[in-house]
Amino acid sequence: MSQPAYPIRTARLTLRPITLDDLDDVYAYQGRADVVRWLREAGPRTREESRASVVAMTGEDALRAEGDCLTLAVVTDAGVIGTVELVWRSVADRTAELGYIFHPDHGGRGLATEAAAALVDWGFNEFGLHRIYARCHGRNTASARLMARLGMRQEAHHLQSYRYRGEWADQFVFAILADEWRSRAVTTVTGGRGPRTRSE
Ligand SMILES: CC(C)(COP(=O)(O)OP(=O)(O)OC[C@H]1O[C@@H](n2cnc3c(N)ncnc32)[C@H](O)[C@@H]1OP(=O)(O)O)[C@@H](O)C(=O)NCCC(=O)NCCS
Repeated sequence: MSQPAYPIRTARLTLRPITLDDLDDVYAYQGRADVVRWLREAGPRTREESRASVVAMTGEDALRAEGDCLTLAVVTDAGVIGTVELVWRSVADRTAELGYIFHPDHGGRGLATEAAAALVDWGFNEFGLHRIYARCHGRNTASARLMARLGMRQEAHHLQSYRYRGEWADQFVFAILADEWRSRAVTTVTGGRGPRTRSE
């Protein structure tokens, strides 16, 4: 199946596709310098840039073809606190790239990890991926810690491998395989649900 059965519910979160009504919530974090600090694109977004971003994300509700991005709004009683995404990088290799961005007001409670875990779980156990990887700027320690919490292995530390705001930047690459995901002892970040055993 190319999309999750919406909504995805975890212990503390609801994940569902973005809608245009989410613009205020999304702009609240896309407009912050601290949120975009380690992202490749230029500075904080204006409201109009956020609107264009939300419009684009509303179409990202399924992985239908290689290159597609599945973006899910992460919702609590406070509204949309961030997004998690999977980009289908290779059909042949059953590989996708994980991404996430959250409002700092809701950081430090494991919510981003919980949301990312739910999406990774869908990617492996429902969509049938073999490998999920993620990348971050070498100084984006919060992102690197999140990947490690998910159980991803650091596979690479590329030195000065890309241009970032006019200078060379290091990049970390983390990854996890379907078998590794399923063999994790307890999926605590999704509320204690153990890994499912559906074969690929
Ligand atoms: C990357 C990002 C999502 C991480 O946010 P975060 O708040 O650190 O992540 P979580 O919500 O999973 O919270 C984890 C933190 O809460 C703590 N925590 C508290 N309760 C927890 C729980 N029940 N479960 C897990 N962690 C918990 C963890 O110890 C961790 O803190 P630490 O990293 O200081 O050890 C956030 O920094 C962000 O959105 N950054 C801007 C966008 C960005 O850079 N995205 C990545 C691009 S590569």
